[in-house]
Amino acid sequence: MGLTRSLKRIYRKWKIIVFILGIVLLVQFLLILNSSPGLEEEQLRRAKEIQVKHQQVANAVLQGKRPHLENAYLNGIDILNPKDPKFREEFLKHSDNRVGILEDGDLKINNENKDIAPPSFEDDQFEEAIFDENFKFNPVCEVTLKDAQSAISRAKSQQCKQTISDVACKMQGNSLFPESMPRTCPHDFKFAAEAPIPAHFSDNLKPIRICYILVVHGRAFRQFRRLLRVLYHRDHYYYIHVDKRSDYLLREIVKETAQYPNVKVAPWRMATIWGGSSLLQMLLHALTDVLSLWTDWDFFINLSALDFPIEHNDKLIKFLSTYHDKNFMKSHGREDEKFIRKQGLNRVFVECDQHMWRLGERELPKGITVNGGSDWVAMNRRFCEHIIRGKDKLLADLKHWYRYTLLPAESFFHTYAQNSDKCESFVDNNLRVTNWNRARGCKCQYKHIVDWCGCSPNDFFPSDLVRLQTTRPVFFARKFEEIINQEVVNHLDFKLYGEYPPGTPGLQSYWESCYDNADGPTSISDSRLTHYASFTRIGLSMLNHQLALHSSDGCQLVVKKLNQVEIYKRSEEFVGYLATIDASWKKPDPNSADIKLQVFISPRTTFRMIDSNSQIGHRLEGAVVGTEWDVKELTLRDWRGVIGPNDEPRLVARWRKSDEDFVVTIVVVDPLNVVADYNDFRTPSKAAGVTETPLSLRKPLRPGRWVVRFYVQRQFQQVCAEVDFYVTPLEFVEGRAGDTKLSEYNRGVEDDGQLNAANRNLYSVRTTLSLTKDLQAARDLVSSSLSLMGTKLHSWVDGILGSMWQAKDVCLISTSPESWQKSQPGGCDQRHDSAPNLCHNMNWSSFSPDPKSELGKVKPNGRIR
Ligand SMILES: *[C@@H]1O[C@H](CO)[C@@H](O)[C@H](O)[C@H]1NC(C)=O
Ligand SMILES: *[C@@H]1O[C@H](CO)[C@@H](O)[C@H](O)[C@H]1NC(C)=O
Repeated sequence: MGLTRSLKRIYRKWKIIVFILGIVLLVQFLLILNSSPGLEEEQLRRAKEIQVKHQQVANAVLQGKRPHLENAYLNGIDILNPKDPKFREEFLKHSDNRVGILEDGDLKINNENKDIAPPSFEDDQFEEAIFDENFKFNPVCEVTLKDAQSAISRAKSQQCKQTISDVACKMQGNSLFPESMPRTCPHDFKFAAEAPIPAHFSDNLKPIRICYILVVHGRAFRQFRRLLRVLYHRDHYYYIHVDKRSDYLLREIVKETAQYPNVKVAPWRMATIWGGSSLLQMLLHALTDVLSLWTDWDFFINLSALDFPIEHNDKLIKFLSTYHDKNFMKSHGREDEKFIRKQGLNRVFVECDQHMWRLGERELPKGITVNGGSDWVAMNRRFCEHIIRGKDKLLADLKHWYRYTLLPAESFFHTYAQNSDKCESFVDNNLRVTNWNRARGCKCQYKHIVDWCGCSPNDFFPSDLVRLQTTRPVFFARKFEEIINQEVVNHLDFKLYGEYPPGTPGLQSYWESCYDNADGPTSISDSRLTHYASFTRIGLSMLNHQLALHSSDGCQLVVKKLNQVEIYKRSEEFVGYLATIDASWKKPDPNSADIKLQVFISPRTTFRMIDSNSQIGHRLEGAVVGTEWDVKELTLRDWRGVIGPNDEPRLVARWRKSDEDFVVTIVVVDPLNVVADYNDFRTPSKAAGVTETPLSLRKPLRPGRWVVRFYVQRQFQQVCAEVDFYVTPLEFVEGRAGDTKLSEYNRGVEDDGQLNAANRNLYSVRTTLSLTKDLQAARDLVSSSLSLMGTKLHSWVDGILGSMWQAKDVCLISTSPESWQKSQPGGCDQRHDSAPNLCHNMNWSSFSPDPKSELGKVKPNGRIR
């Protein structure tokens, strides 16, 4: 009896525990059910199927075909129109992230021209990473390396964590690399052949053919065209790799180069990162392609779109013909050990998730000397063939070793050339000049993509041209960015290939695309998108006004579509933005047609010198507030301020040289006339210079006009200068209009006490300046922020933006003004005969002639330029 009772008591006490245990078991059972292999396989199979399908579409598109897609076959996959932005998203999700896609529109353009073969698509030669979103990282050993542990914790994707841990485990087990590698160079010491410019070139040289590989990214299409224009000769070959992320550039390049049989665009694309091991993979892949594409080139030269020749091509040909059995690459000029440490060659790196992860130290291979320097090489065909097809052990070992190496292209070729039996062909000269400015280029600006601090060269300015005078033979220089300085490119171009006749248009102008509709609204920030949308309205409203197109008259123009936005610079000054749009007539009429227009929007002056007799007045040349600060070129890449509520504006001021330097105090006043930040900084010591000061403003910033005031160190009784900046309310959230988050963003920070992001104590500055808060503006802000879309939001945006940007002109994109009259709806109250000017004739328009950077027919001498 006693026993039963105590059992019962125990049972009562443990009932809860038994109950919980039961639940846990049940949940486990369900989990097992859920992850049963059948289900997982099914998902994998589906993912793979979509990937294969999309690959087929991309293939077909690349071959210029319009893919026929039967929906039945795809059951349930309804996003297969390559023009549909969703297609891209879906494709990228399922592709292995190394295969690119093209849109069908791109290739159609050349379809009439039958004798031009569209680029053919080869299967990606890299190992396929099977996409699997259920994949869970599972290390095969206990990772003890500190760097590797940190990398695993920071890596985003499960696959990447797995890759890192796999490599780390091999490192820990000493099985990642061979201990030594065989050296087959007959010399015991570093061997370098001499290759000076001969006093005169021999007359019976057999001229060599060059195969250029152009590795390009970004949006500077005109600069690319200009480079190809000066570089082009019908006897040479050009193979172009466009970065996977540069879709716009790819589309333009494919369109414009199809006319030249010796220019090919790589049909595969990779997204390479600074210093990444993918760079070497990309280059080896490209080398493989050009060896099989063209059998009669003799030299391989690697260029980027930021390079420019500094000698006439004929001289380069003579030079390389003289030394046709040599390979040109430049070694570092210091102690080996120092170089190795600085380059991180004694560390293991792994690239994944678009990042180079540092995993730990490694021993250098015994038996060889690891060497390196600049990654700019010129190699002869035999050497290239050997690099790609060679089977020797040294080569295989090095290819493996450099997969785990930072900046591999700066060392792989050198190390192989110097240690292999080809060592006598090595010339210690890369034939180029690089514009290093280590004080500005070594700011560790890549630390978000590489676990390392590296350097990057600066853009050339005319004052850097003295650097081109060297004792070694040089034929190219880098970097050039026409958007930063075009004068220096003009100088080289004119010097090498002759001046253009007086009156040639466009010589001082530069245009660069900053938005293309085909890239989709999420390819740029929401504040940029808002600005560009507003530019089109501001432009059209000016045109309607100019041509007396009233809204009472149905013949008013409205924006239908924004196609393209370009930056326009002239004589090194930013002049404005150009928006290319489709406009339609307000009155519905089947006989009316859309009109293509380009509008020219330029910034107003926002800087005011108030006391030019003050210390600040003597030194301050100008100031601007904006985003996208470039530490290397000391410039804001948003060109005069494109700022939305979620941006981080910076103040950039230019100072003249002077004998005195002093402390400047700036005060930032928001649109409601409330002090939001202040800061002190020193002017440049004596020389002329630029200062950059981040503003510590809490987001979302209040939309409207902000003012930065300049004082000499805390002397608040006298404002010396002011610069305005405008924060635009947003019309889009992640590219979508009408999002409910808009009112939160556009409302700005509510509490005046919260305006400062650095929690600076603003009390004394506010008291000293005693500004009165604009309560009416505060009420207006609250009510304006409630509109999520439509005319009310648009006019709020246009009102703020219109204080900063003004429409300068609008032109008609057409070959004749007649199209203007024909496009009008029949029932207009009156006919509007006077058409806008044709863009072709307006020197600001990107449709006006730009001979210096246009491609065209090949001249009888084989060149374009
Ligand atoms: C080839 O050119 C690209 C251009 O950006 C460069 O990054 C790469 O390192 C170069 N490699 C070699 C081996 O020249
Ligand atoms: C562009 O054209 C305008 C007038 O049409 C002229 O005043 C201006 O000087 C021209 N600018 C350039 C750079 O040619």
